[in-house]
Amino acid sequence: MAETTPRRGVLVTGGGQRLGAAVCEAFARAGWRVWCQYRASRTPAQALCARLREEGFDARAVEADIGSEAGRIALVEAASAEGGLSCIVNNASAFEPDTGLDFEAESALRQLGVNLIAPLSFARLLARRAVPGDGIDRSAIHVLDQKVYNLNPDYFSYTVSKLALERAVSLQAQALAPALRVCGVAPGILFPSGPQTEANFAQASRANLLRRPIDPADVARSCVFLAATPSLTGTTLCVDNGQHLVPLARDVMFVVDDLLKASPAP
Ligand SMILES: NC(=O)c1ccc[n+]([C@@H]2O[C@H](COP(=O)([O-])OP(=O)(O)OC[C@H]3O[C@@H](n4cnc5c(N)ncnc54)[C@H](OP(=O)(O)O)[C@@H]3O)[C@@H](O)[C@H]2O)c1
Repeated sequence: MAETTPRRGVLVTGGGQRLGAAVCEAFARAGWRVWCQYRASRTPAQALCARLREEGFDARAVEADIGSEAGRIALVEAASAEGGLSCIVNNASAFEPDTGLDFEAESALRQLGVNLIAPLSFARLLARRAVPGDGIDRSAIHVLDQKVYNLNPDYFSYTVSKLALERAVSLQAQALAPALRVCGVAPGILFPSGPQTEANFAQASRANLLRRPIDPADVARSCVFLAATPSLTGTTLCVDNGQHLVPLARDVMFVVDDLLKASPAP
């Protein structure tokens, strides 16, 4: 019997590890075909997809350069040719420490490239594939950060890139309708990043209204919900245990660092 083309498929950028891997897994378990894009994370991306396939799910790891328009076009065309691509989760992101005083143009542009231009480009490429009346519910989900609703000046360029992407959720929803829905998901702190120690993360991950760590699977499930709910566009879900309602003068990692220095473990 000829293979039937799956109705739904999702491309997850930076899908090999951490949140991206949880998103790939959630979509696969919800019955979606998954393209797990990786750049450096070949081994974990391939292992994740092999494990999901062994369980009977449809997941494949794809190496691609999402930093160039040519790379993005090639990736969307290849996935579309395999069949079913209808959603892109823009998860890949660069997170580099800098400030409004010392940021370097090169690093700021690198972060804007992966955190802003790539998501906007992927959404547009998917919208362009729509043919009036084809009946396919297409969507792009931009992964943001609770920081955009709870400003502090640390990680300045990163924050600027996510702020622009947050505003682009509604702007792109308007620009790309009715071909494509555009939604956002804004997680709170999920994993240790950069120089953050485990002790710091243990405290920082509880600095939210619910005083407990955020389960990355909740963020992943929210992406599946946004992708599978055809009435949603131009909206963002905060999946952060209410972290965006706990204002801090600095990034939570630095606030906790100061607390740990003030009261070192006995
Ligand atoms: N971690 C958190 O606590 C947290 C909190 C709030 C929001 N978020 C958001 O949630 C998403 C996932 O966070 P995460 O911590 O899981 O992400 P991450 O580990 O920092 O990065 C995810 C992937 O992005 C890819 N990537 C990074 N720089 C790239 C570049 N210059 N070009 C192309 N790809 C690049 C990498 O893929 P390869 O490894 O394959 O190269 C990386 O594994 C991000 O959008 C982040 O902003 C995270």
